[in-house]
Amino acid sequence: MRKAFIAGNWKMNTNLHSAVVLAKEIAEGCADVVHEGGLTVAVCPPALYLSAVSAALSSSPVALGAQNMHFETTGAFTGEISSAMLKDVGCTYVILGHSERRHVFGESGTMINKKVHAAISAGLLPILCVGELAGQREAGETEAVIERQLHEGLSQVGVEKMAAVTIAYEPCWAIGTGETATPQQAQEVHAFIRKTLEGLYDRSLAQEARIQYGGSANPGNAAELLEQPDVDGLLVGGASLKGADFVAIVDAAG
Ligand code: 13P
Repeated sequence: MRKAFIAGNWKMNTNLHSAVVLAKEIAEGCADVVHEGGLTVAVCPPALYLSAVSAALSSSPVALGAQNMHFETTGAFTGEISSAMLKDVGCTYVILGHSERRHVFGESGTMINKKVHAAISAGLLPILCVGELAGQREAGETEAVIERQLHEGLSQVGVEKMAAVTIAYEPCWAIGTGETATPQQAQEVHAFIRKTLEGLYDRSLAQEARIQYGGSANPGNAAELLEQPDVDGLLVGGASLKGADFVAIVDAAG
């Protein structure tokens, strides 16, 4: 039985003070819903505030995640952050291959795959994002794009390592636009992702894999998205910046 996983991607928002306030609000609001063996909740603040948010979450079951990392472990990589540094400040999760990393910062499938390997080796749990652009959907290429991104991102990631990985389906046209995929559109692609995982690995791994939906998820649409059989959680952007909204989304999954 797959457990729901709700994560908030704060992107390049908040400041030191508001990040801590938001983390505390979420920790308090989720205290009754998140418990051992139940659903998983994580917040992914900007890297610079990870330590402060980690401290704010110290007695809470809400987990900490980062939004990105470099694949090398140490050395002359100006401006980059390693997996060990993320572990050091209390991260459990790391978002990899987010569409903004792919399309704004030009990250390639090969680079994302190196990051997936580096994260798992360091004991981090990657959230690997996949998703098509609007034009690719219009051209009927959605499945081909998703399949390619999964093949690239998971290249040489063996069955035993896959327990660490969450997949997030984030259609680029639904990110930050207020336009959400319909529950049916989300379900179709999630089922396709599961089928692709079955082809890459096996049926039991595909059945156990957690697949989040991301793209304008909010308290108003969370429940119907989560009702879909292959939607196991949500990766929330804008709505995760308001404590009450994020807690309402967590409640919908609880
Ligand atoms: P929005 O919820 O703001 O559309 O962002 C989704 C997202 O990119 C989460 O990673």
